[in-house]
Amino acid sequence: VAGLDEFMPHPEDNPLTAERVAMGRMLFFDPNLSADARTSCASCHIPRHAFADTLAVSRGTHGLTGERNTPSLINRGYGRAFFWDGRAVSLEAQVLEPVTNPLELGLTLHELERRVLADPRYRPYLRADRARGEPVRTVVARGLSSYLRTIRSGSAPFDAWGTGDTSALSVEARRGMALFRGKANCISCHIGPNFTDEEFHNTGVFAVSGDSGRARVTGRTEDVGAFKTPSLREVARTAPYMHDGSVGTLEEVVDFYDRGGRANAALDAEIRPLGLSVEERRALVVFLHALSGRITGH
Ligand code: HEC
Ligand code: HEC
Repeated sequence: VAGLDEFMPHPEDNPLTAERVAMGRMLFFDPNLSADARTSCASCHIPRHAFADTLAVSRGTHGLTGERNTPSLINRGYGRAFFWDGRAVSLEAQVLEPVTNPLELGLTLHELERRVLADPRYRPYLRADRARGEPVRTVVARGLSSYLRTIRSGSAPFDAWGTGDTSALSVEARRGMALFRGKANCISCHIGPNFTDEEFHNTGVFAVSGDSGRARVTGRTEDVGAFKTPSLREVARTAPYMHDGSVGTLEEVVDFYDRGGRANAALDAEIRPLGLSVEERRALVVFLHALSGRITGH
């Protein structure tokens, strides 16, 4: 996939195999792995919305409302911390949490294992690991993580431009790119092939949601209101935006940054009023659209 690192990292005990990916994909789309037997990972992480959804905050099993906006799962295999507050340090540590979260899939791990064991479709995938004495939940976590590592997006107009196709970006998109890297300062956080520094920043969104974000994990006052910088790959498909889904469109996102985010005691030093003209704001949005490419792993 053009524009991405060739190397997809994985833990030593979970190299990517076709079997694990196939099992993980099956688990991801399986509604039987939820309390109401109607909800799956894909109910919230919808493939045609770049594995996000269209709601401000997620809706889980039995229609229960969650606390945060469903993030896209694009290129998360390259990530270092997971969830908006980074509380999971690996995909393997992340993927069972939605299963047991009462507002998401709402199963106990015991019930998850019972349902996986009862489904003959999973049997061939369980055999080898079970023979080595691995618990079913570990096999499930490895499978889901392996599948997530195949969900990638690159080969966007931005990448084609980067490899020398001068027709890939319009004049306006190129102007937006220059602003992104320059006057608008987006690059100080949305950096690298995946447009994220994988760090936590306070842009002031939380001043309305009241979600303390990273501070829930670290307990430090300076982390109140800090959230993980999201990737901007496929961002045109993942509205609404931010950890609380409070911003409806990319135009409004750009207006938010142009105003200097939302004032609060711990606002990140890189967030300040930008003084962008109407044309400059429009160009930035055009550039963000040029980050939509080809999504693998459906
Ligand atoms: C009810 C909707 C819902 C369901 C079902 C759901 N998720 Fe999520 N997912 C979310 C929300 C909301 C978040 C962010 C939660 C937070 O940050 O606290 C999230 C976060 C994630 C992340 C972290 C992404 C990142 O950028 O850090 C991964 C990976 C993920 N989910 C995978 C899964 C898998 C695998 C399943 C199925 C086992 C699943 N999700 C089921 C809504 C859902
Ligand atoms: C100081 C670091 C920082 C800077 C500078 C920054 N961002 Fe962000 N961006 C973030 C963080 C952190 C979030 C999530 C905030 C939240 O939800 O509370 C975010 C969220 C977003 C989102 C929403 C993505 C989603 O999936 O919900 C978009 C779009 C975005 N930024 C674009 C931009 C643009 C365009 C610029 C430049 C004008 C910019 N950002 C500047 C850190 C930054």
